[in-house]
Amino acid sequence: YGTTGVNKNGNLEIGGVDSVQLTKEFGTPLYVYDVALMRERARSFKQAFEEQNIKAQVAYASKAFSTIAMIQLAEEEGLSLDVVSGGELYTALVAGFPVERIHFHGNNKSREELEMALDQEIGCIVVDNFFELELLKTISIEKNAHVNILLRITPGIEAHTHDYILTGQEDSKFGFDLQNGQAEDALKMALEVENFEVLGLHCHIGSQIFETTGFLLAAKKIVEKMEVWKHKLSFEAKVLNLGGGFGIRYTKEDEPLQPSQYVSEIIREVKKLTESYSLKMPEIWIEPGRSLVGDAGITLYKVGSSKEVPGVRKYLAVDGGMSDNIRPALYQAKYEAVLANKPLTKADKTVSIAGKCCESGDMLIWDLPLPETNEEDILAVFCTGAYGYSMANNYNRIPRPAVVFVENGTATLVVKRETFADLIQHDLPLK
Ligand code: LLP
Repeated sequence: YGTTGVNKNGNLEIGGVDSVQLTKEFGTPLYVYDVALMRERARSFKQAFEEQNIKAQVAYASKAFSTIAMIQLAEEEGLSLDVVSGGELYTALVAGFPVERIHFHGNNKSREELEMALDQEIGCIVVDNFFELELLKTISIEKNAHVNILLRITPGIEAHTHDYILTGQEDSKFGFDLQNGQAEDALKMALEVENFEVLGLHCHIGSQIFETTGFLLAAKKIVEKMEVWKHKLSFEAKVLNLGGGFGIRYTKEDEPLQPSQYVSEIIREVKKLTESYSLKMPEIWIEPGRSLVGDAGITLYKVGSSKEVPGVRKYLAVDGGMSDNIRPALYQAKYEAVLANKPLTKADKTVSIAGKCCESGDMLIWDLPLPETNEEDILAVFCTGAYGYSMANNYNRIPRPAVVFVENGTATLVVKRETFADLIQHDLPLK
C-alpha cells in the first residue's frame, strides 16, 4: 500500500515514518494517512483528463474524510470539492477552499444551508428534487442571487455493490428520475428561473464499483436525453457529472481498475456518444471520495484482551472498533491487517479482531492470520482512509482518535484526539 514498507527496526513504516513510534507519540487508536499516496491518486485522476485535453473537474467527495488539513491538501492538488451538508461546507470555508470550486450535494438541503451556499457564492448546487428546486428559486429571488446548478438525475442503473451504497437505481431517495419524465419536468422548470444557470446534469450510480459498465451505461442514458432536450428545450449541457464510486482494493479479492482506466473509458464513451448525436463535448466532472483517500489511511490499535472459544475461534480485542470504523458492522466490509511491530513474522494463528464496544457485532476482522501476540503489539488495519474517521462516533462514550498525516519522514497531527472533557462539553446538568 502506497509508501508503506518495513524499516530497519523491522517495524511497519508509512511515509518514511515508523508506525510504532507514531503510536508512542500520538497514542492509539490512531488514523495515519500517507500524503504522497493521496497526492498520487489526485494527480492520476486529473492527468487522465489532461492527457486527452478534456475539460474536467475532479471534485473530492469530502464525505469520505473531511478535515481542514485534508481539504487544504485537495486545494493544493487542484481538486474541486463536493460537500453534502452545512458542516462540510463550513469546514471547506474555514480551510480556505476556493468557493467557486465547491459543489453542494444532498437530498434535503435546508433553507439555512442553501442560504449559506448562496451567500458564499459557491461554484454550483446539485439540485436533487422538486422541493429543493422551488426553495432554491425562492431564496435566489429573495437574495437577488445568481446560482449555477446541476440537476441530479437517477439514470436507473443497478451497480453491483452493497445494497446500502447503491444510489443510481430507480427506487432511490436521490435525484430526478430519467425514465418517467421527472428529469425533463425539472429541467423545464429550472430553465425558466432567471437566476439559475443550468450548467448540466449529474448522476452517481453507487460506490466501491470495480468496472466501468455502470458509468458507461449511465452516460449513455443521459447523453441520449441530452440530444432530446437539445431539440425540445434548446438546452445543451455544458457539464456532465458522473459522480464518484471508483473502487479500491481492501483485500486481495478486490480487483478495482486504476483511476486512469475508469477515466479513459468514460471519456471514450462520452466522446463517441456526443459525436454520434452531433452534440458539443461537455466538460466531464467526477467526484471520487474513497479512491482518493481510502487506501492512504491506516488505523493503528493497541492489542488487548483475548478469549478463546475452544475448538471454535480466538477473539483478540483492540482498543477501538465500531466507534472508529463502523464499516464492518454496517456493510460487512472486509479489511487486511498486520502487526505493525512485526509485519514480517510468519502468521501461525488465526484470530478474529474484536472492537471494544458493547455490541457483539463490533468485530473488525474475522479470521485474520497473525503471529502470536502480546500486549506490546500494535495492529495496523489497512485501507481505513475513507468513511472511517468521517463515520466515527462516540458510542459508549469512546473519544474519537487523533489523525496524523505522514509525508517524507515527517508526521503532522491534523486532528487532535478527543478527550473525555470533549465528550461532555455540550451536556447540561439536570438542574
Ligand atoms: N458523489 C456522490 C453524489 C455520492 O453520493 C458519493 C458517495 C460520492 C460522490 C463519493 O463516492 P465514493 O467515490 O467515495 O465511492 N459510507 C459508505 C459509502 C457511502 C457513499 C455515499 N456517497 C462506505 O463506507 O462504503
